[in-house]
Formats: sequence, C-alpha cells, structure tokens
Amino acid sequence: MAKEIKTIGVLTSGGDAPGMNAAIRAVVRKAIGNGVKVKGIKKGYQGLLNEEIVDMEKKDVSDTIQKGGTILGTARCPEFKFEEVQQKAAEICRAHEIDGLVVIGGDGSYRGAQALARQGINTVGIPGTIDLDIACTDYTIGFDTAINTAMQAIDKVRDTSSSHERCSIIEVMGRNAGYIALWCGVANGAEDILLPEKYDFNEQSIINNIIKNRKFGKTHHIIVNAEGIGHSTSMARRIEAATGIETRATILGYMQRGGSPTCKDRFYASIMGAYATDILCAGKSNRVVGYRNAEFVDFDIEEALQMKKEIPEYQFQVSKLLSQ
Ligand code: ADP
Ligand code: F6P
Repeated sequence: MAKEIKTIGVLTSGGDAPGMNAAIRAVVRKAIGNGVKVKGIKKGYQGLLNEEIVDMEKKDVSDTIQKGGTILGTARCPEFKFEEVQQKAAEICRAHEIDGLVVIGGDGSYRGAQALARQGINTVGIPGTIDLDIACTDYTIGFDTAINTAMQAIDKVRDTSSSHERCSIIEVMGRNAGYIALWCGVANGAEDILLPEKYDFNEQSIINNIIKNRKFGKTHHIIVNAEGIGHSTSMARRIEAATGIETRATILGYMQRGGSPTCKDRFYASIMGAYATDILCAGKSNRVVGYRNAEFVDFDIEEALQMKKEIPEYQFQVSKLLSQ
C-alpha cells in the first residue's frame, strides 16, 4: 500500500530557469489544496544538507509567478553523489517529517532524486532547464523564455552588424545541446547555425559562405554558435583574417537565464508543478514529469535517464536550407 503523504518538500537544483517560481507556486498551492503541508528547501541539495528548510503557505508564493530566477535559490552540490551524503539527506527529510520531495532541475538533479527515492523518500522530478536537453520531454521550464531573450538580443546585434557591414558570431547557451542555437538560428534568420550535435569543424565552408553572401550583396552575416562548440572569439579572429571582413563575437551568457518568464513558461510550469504534487500525493515515487505529444505524462526516473534525445533531422535540414 502507498504510504500516506502528509508533508512534501520542494527544491530547485542546478542552473536556475525562468518559470521555476511558477512551478514552486503550483506545488505549494496544489499541496495545500490536497490537504498536505509544504516545506521549501533553500539552495537545492546543499540547502537540504544544511537544513535550510522553511514552512510554506499560500501567501509565501504570492507575487512570484512573474519573477525570473528561483525564490528558493539553487546550488550545485557535488558531494550529493556519495551514498553516505544521500543517507544523511534522507535522515534530514525524516527529521523534518518530509515524506515526499519535488525536485525541479535537470538530469543531474534527477539522479539526486533517484538516490533519495532509494533511501525511502518519495520523489518526483520536474524538468527545469533552459537547455531543453532532457530526453523524456518536449518541453523544459525556461527554454521558451531563454530563446525569446536570446532572439531579441540577436536582432539587436544584427542591426549594428548590418550598419557596419560586419560578420557577427553570437554564442548562445545550452551546455552540450544545440536546441537554443537551432531555434534562434532559424528565428533570427542566421546565415550559419552551428550545433554541437552536428558540427563538422569545417570552418572553411563558413568562410566560403560569408564570401559568397558578400558578393551577393548581403551586408551582414550572422553566425549563431552554440556554447557546446564555443571558441567564438578565436573563430571571429580566424574568419576576419581569412575574409578581410570585420568580425565580432558576442557571448550572450547569463542574460539568457534571467528575466520574467514567458506566458508559456508560466503556464507549463504551473501545470507541471500541480501534476508532480498530485502524483506524489497519490503515493508515486522515483518519477519525473514530462510533456509529450501535447500531454503531461510521467516516467520512471531510470527509464527517463536512459532515453536519448537528438536534434530532429528534418528541423536541422530546414534550418540549413533557410539560412542559404
Ligand atoms: P542539472 O540538474 O541542471 O542537470 P547538475 O548536473 O549540475 O544540473 O546537477 C545538479 C545537482 O544534482 C548536482 O549539483 C548534485 O547535487 C546533484 N547530482 C548530479 N548528479 C548526481 C548524481 N549522479 N547523484 C546524485 N546527485 C547528483
Ligand atoms: O544548464 C543551464 C546552463 O545555463 C547551461 O546552458 C550552461 O552551460 C550552464 O548552465 C552554466 O552553468 P553555471 O551557472 O554553473 O555557470
């Protein structure tokens, strides 16, 4: 028989992402609606180990849905990989009467949730990352805001790039994944889109493309480069030397992780927060919430971690064709 859940905890872990607050708000309000108490754990697994745990009421999440970042704070906690640390964390949960935990984060954070489930604490993960690099879901909290922020920034760089007839390399985040680069590359009408999953390191073909476009009369050349490839500054130097065209690198960096979440991120994060709470209250454990084929679903964490995600080939081919 499923154990009765009286109190749940919620934490955010790994890189923050716009929309995390909407998810926290939904967890708090849905749990209270279900007759369950909620405790907020500050600064991810590190805060759990430090017992930075506070009671949360409905009013504590007022005026948060529109805010970027995470009201609970987040952290990376490398020692959470060790079993004795996981055991201690489970004991702390029990001491605070936390029977279930919602973990909002990425793949790494799910491994922590899986470890806690092994230690007897019911856990459910929610995908929170701007990178969209979680295989079991077509949506991750923060991606939509991040691509819109990056898209607007790239439009601005394009204005000045055209005025000066320069080539611009704009580096976007995504860790080892190219989803932000792919979406912005298409949405910004970039001339070259470099994705870590697909890049062949053939810089000469980029150079040829720039020279061809310049002859054709284009005054700008936008290259959207993914963080997973990196080296934008040295790439710019080499391209300028080879083409004779002034080339600048812009690394968008952390601005992509901040800011008020889009409507989509607020909405999906709210539904996922409620969904995670409901399955936790129903006694499920070691699960992760996803969005697939227009439905909110959940998977076993191990099964989710085994899944592979690839850049959809058709989207990649279209992105190449449209950039020419
Ligand atoms: P993300 O959750 O966005 O993938 P990280 O990979 O940095 O971000 O993971 C966030 C945190 O999750 C880590 O700092 C660590 O506390 C925990 N974590 C990561 N990997 C493991 C693991 N193998 N076992 C237990 N906990 C882990
Ligand atoms: O996972 C989100 C992300 O912003 C990645 O795009 C990036 O590689 C990483 O986090 C940066 O992490 P940190 O905050 O540790 O510099």
